[in-house]
Amino acid sequence: MAITAEVLYDILGKRYEDAYATSPNLCATVESAIKMLDPNSTILDVGCGTGKPVSHMLASAGHDVSGIDISQHMVDIATAQVPGGHFQKADMRTYEPSRHFDAVFSVYSMYQISPGETYAMVFRLAEWLKEGGILVLGVTSSTSLLAGLGEYDATWDCVRVMNRRWMAQLTNQVFFSIERWKRLLESAGLAVLDVRQFTYRPDDPDHRVREEHSLIIARKAARKAASLPFLGPYPIPQGQHVPYHLNGPSWSQLSNRMDYTVLDSMLKNYTRGGRSLLLKNSNEGFSLTVDTMGQAKEYTMQFREDIPFPDGQFESVTAVSTLNHVDSITKTLRDAPGGAPWNELVQFQNAICTPLMKNNGASPNHQGYLLDIAAKYLLDHGFGHIELKQVPVRCEFTDSVVDNSTVASEIIAGLRYSADPNLEKMKERLIPQLQMHFQGTPGVIGCDMIMLVASPSTTTGCA
Ligand SMILES: C[S@@+](CC[C@H](N)C(=O)[O-])C[C@H]1O[C@@H](n2cnc3c(N)ncnc32)[C@H](O)[C@@H]1O
Repeated sequence: MAITAEVLYDILGKRYEDAYATSPNLCATVESAIKMLDPNSTILDVGCGTGKPVSHMLASAGHDVSGIDISQHMVDIATAQVPGGHFQKADMRTYEPSRHFDAVFSVYSMYQISPGETYAMVFRLAEWLKEGGILVLGVTSSTSLLAGLGEYDATWDCVRVMNRRWMAQLTNQVFFSIERWKRLLESAGLAVLDVRQFTYRPDDPDHRVREEHSLIIARKAARKAASLPFLGPYPIPQGQHVPYHLNGPSWSQLSNRMDYTVLDSMLKNYTRGGRSLLLKNSNEGFSLTVDTMGQAKEYTMQFREDIPFPDGQFESVTAVSTLNHVDSITKTLRDAPGGAPWNELVQFQNAICTPLMKNNGASPNHQGYLLDIAAKYLLDHGFGHIELKQVPVRCEFTDSVVDNSTVASEIIAGLRYSADPNLEKMKERLIPQLQMHFQGTPGVIGCDMIMLVASPSTTTGCA
């Protein structure tokens, strides 16, 4: 049975450094990155390991280095051997830095997270950078793996290797091609500046096989739309907003499985005090909740109706996943969560179902398209500040009686494509992809959202 990254690196500790830290190409790439940075730059080393060579070289060059790692043992070693560095135990998938950085390094630290989490991490790393900041990634290309090793995953265009013996331990690993990495980085608003590919032979008695390593340097765009990675994936499509109506039964099955705990507590933070309006999807239209000092009143309305309240009535207005369905976005706009660029449920629709649509030419779902329109509209209409927040939402498939992959395939295909003649083919293609997905993440499909918060203030800061 494969072990987690935390257990693996708690076991390996210094042995990992002894095997890998002498890579001349890694040291040369860190040197190149140092030349691109201003003195005293702020740097985050994600999956910092023992701190050598990366954090150590950066701190020795006079930069302000912070590092996170999921293994306490690695954090302790880094703290002991990188003077001036600040290291803490944290999982990169949930870590929320309190500032933005001039450079972020993630060197060989994303093999043991799921493909969807890898997509999420690229957008999150981009978000953590200042405009013009540098990202340095260390990866292994899927194209360098031995033939027959692992299984191709068409949803995410990657190779998953389960139960692989590496440094004498069993691990599950995920690999993307360099072309896929480049497209992924670009979709998060980063420009790829340099890719170095080389072979490296680790210096370890149990692990002397040559490996192909790649180091990628990318830069976050200077101030323009693409400096807001969470509006991605970039480029944002041009064109008309075409409203689509969710298939009622599929939507109600899906919404019963969604865990909105985090969203609800985030919304409470924004809607404290005063009179507030909350718009949510219901099966046939919107449900409206008007809350006046804790007294809630519910209304329902059809998608095509106008919202039945005059302007200037509310301290806060919240619209959750509603913009896709209205005829005029600008009529409905206030504060609207949309899908995160790495949303797993949307990825299943786009990668597996959309290519099978009978009347092809229909464009895939784009998570940030509506929020991009919303951001521009709100900035033009008196809201001086736009903030984008990640909202984790899990969709749970843990029915014990029926196969989860079959249930999930019916809901995912049924949501948008219930009238398509190829609906059955879509479900058939989805089932093996979902089975592969559930091996890595049993019973859960990520349905993360992005919350756009527009406020009149220009004082609070955001990337
Ligand atoms: C292959 S080592 C590389 C260490 C270091 N970046 C280097 O190049 O020397 C991968 C590191 O990433 C860390 N890591 C793996 N998954 C992580 C996660 N989800 N969050 C934080 N760190 C993680 C591991 O604990 C390990 O120290």
